[in-house]
Amino acid sequence: MEKLIDPFGRTINYLRLSITEHCNLNCFYCRSEPEGCRAVTKDKILTAEECLNIAEAAVELGMTRIRLTGGEPLVHPDITDIIFRLSRIDGLKDLSLTTNGVFLETMAFKLAEAGLDRVNISLDSLDEETYRQITRGGKLLKTLKGIEKSLQAGLNPVKLNVVLLKGINADEIRRFIELTLDKALDVRFIEYMPFHGHKNWHQYFLPLDKVMEIAASIAPLVPVKGEHGGPARYYRLEGALGKIGVIYSLSRHICSVCNRLRVTPAGTIKPCLFSDDEIDLQLSLSDKEELKEKLREAIKFKSDPTKVYGDPLDRVKQFQVKRPMTQIGG
Ligand code: 5AD
Repeated sequence: MEKLIDPFGRTINYLRLSITEHCNLNCFYCRSEPEGCRAVTKDKILTAEECLNIAEAAVELGMTRIRLTGGEPLVHPDITDIIFRLSRIDGLKDLSLTTNGVFLETMAFKLAEAGLDRVNISLDSLDEETYRQITRGGKLLKTLKGIEKSLQAGLNPVKLNVVLLKGINADEIRRFIELTLDKALDVRFIEYMPFHGHKNWHQYFLPLDKVMEIAASIAPLVPVKGEHGGPARYYRLEGALGKIGVIYSLSRHICSVCNRLRVTPAGTIKPCLFSDDEIDLQLSLSDKEELKEKLREAIKFKSDPTKVYGDPLDRVKQFQVKRPMTQIGG
């Protein structure tokens, strides 16, 4: 079986498929423009057929994990069909989805039945008003119900993604950590990445050391091996049901463990989150052999993990990439 190994020896076995740039929320750190939601163009969406072709090509090249992202993947009109078809690909070991969770209350069981393995849910605050402000209008209760339904539907492990934001949710670190004590929830803290348009990044950026400090003050922290490689590091508070994850996206070097390619809803492969290099798939979306060729080409554009930066904080410069997160998918 062929494998995708990049020029720096990293095995690329994880595909993040951003299937639509549409989203029902408007988180300020994800969309720099408040009107971003309405500014999307109709064509920025991958069809079920295109998703299937890309996924089959990737799996034939040895990729074993696929994550559907957005925008918000659950607003894609054919999301259930996409999951149904992708989950039946021989050789695909893990099909997951990143969502804001708003629609999981009604969709979790349907998605699990269609073949989805698990979900990551973005949840940056446990306070109704703060949640509303971050998401520009979202209702916390909806997402909390979505989390419960996901646990009931067996979309395990249910992971919560918390972007740590100084002055906004840093006072909730302990509450988030304590969620892992008696629920099988993995709470993952992510450093805020100042993408294009966030010139005052230091206003929000807080290194994750603060999280580790608070966790250790609650109970002894036991390191746990993550199941999938990648940049997240996991710990468990002694006796807790869930895990704590930390993703040092800015303050540490994490590129040496990069194992992924991204596909954008515009139909391009994005080999590196911190680079504007893209490989256009538009003319190949209906041809699996051509897609395979493009995927092989894309890994040649993976960035050199030793050359990209010196001081990790210098990477702030590299966050000035053209495409907003809504077209990349977290
Ligand atoms: N910084 C860090 N993470 C981000 N995400 C989106 N924008 C950013 C950013 N500026 C990630 C988060 C979020 C998911 C949808 O995308 O993990 O939960």
